[in-house]
Amino acid sequence: MSAEVDPIKVMKQQVGIAAAQRVQSGTVVGLGTGSTTAYAIQHLGDRLKSGDLKDIKGVPTSFQASVLAKQYGIPLVTLDDVDQIDVAIDGADEVDPAKNLIKGGGAAHTREKIVDGLADYFIVVVDSSKLVDKLGSTFPLPVEVLPLAVAPVTRALEKLGGKPELRMGVKKDGPVITDQGNMVLDVTFSDISNPAELEKTINNIPGVLDNGLFVGLTDLVLIGEIKDGQPVVREL
Ligand code: 5RP
Repeated sequence: MSAEVDPIKVMKQQVGIAAAQRVQSGTVVGLGTGSTTAYAIQHLGDRLKSGDLKDIKGVPTSFQASVLAKQYGIPLVTLDDVDQIDVAIDGADEVDPAKNLIKGGGAAHTREKIVDGLADYFIVVVDSSKLVDKLGSTFPLPVEVLPLAVAPVTRALEKLGGKPELRMGVKKDGPVITDQGNMVLDVTFSDISNPAELEKTINNIPGVLDNGLFVGLTDLVLIGEIKDGQPVVREL
C-alpha cells in the first residue's frame, strides 16, 4: 500500500463492501450510521445500479443514513411499512470477544438499537482498531438523555461510578443534539464487568432514552485489517 493511502479508510471501505456483498435481492435492509457503514450503503447503491441486486428496501438508522441512501438510489421505508428487517449492517466503536458492542460515536445508537435489534441477521462492520478485550476500555459509553433530565441523569450515572461528560458540537457551539432532539452524555467507567446488567441499569434511569451497550444482538462481525500491506476482511 502506498504511503498516501489512509489504512483505516481502506479497511473501512473493504469491510463495508464485504457486508454489502452479502445482501440478497428482495430483502429489507437496516442501514447503519457512520463512516464504515457509509461504504456499505454506497456499495448497495452500486449493486442496484449495475443490476446485480434488485428490489431492496432500506430502513435508515439516522438522518445521515437516509441522506446517503437517497444519494445512492436505495428506496427507503419506515418501521411502519415493513413487518420485519432481514439484515442490518452497522458499525461499532468497540467490539468485545463475545460480539457485544459499544455504539453511539455518531449519537445514533437509540435508533440503531431499534433497527439492528429487529433484524433477523445483524452484521457489524469494523476496522481492527475497534476490537477490545473489555468494553469501555477505549471508548466512553454514550447515553442519550432528554434535555430536561441532563442534571439528574448525570448525578445518577456518577452514583453508578461513571464520569459523564455532555457531548459538545464540532463547528456548532453548545451540545450535540441527536436526530430525536436529545442530548448525549459520554460516560467513562473504569470497569464494565457486566455489560448486560449495566445496559439495563442505565436504561432504567428516568430521562434516559437508551445507551450504547449492544448486548447479545450481533450475529456476525466483519473486521477489516491490513495484512502484509494488503487489506483483508475476516470474521470474528
Ligand atoms: C453511530 C455509531 C457508529 O456506527 C460508530 O460510531 C462507528 O462509526 P465509524 O464507522 O465511523 O467508525 O454507532 O452512532
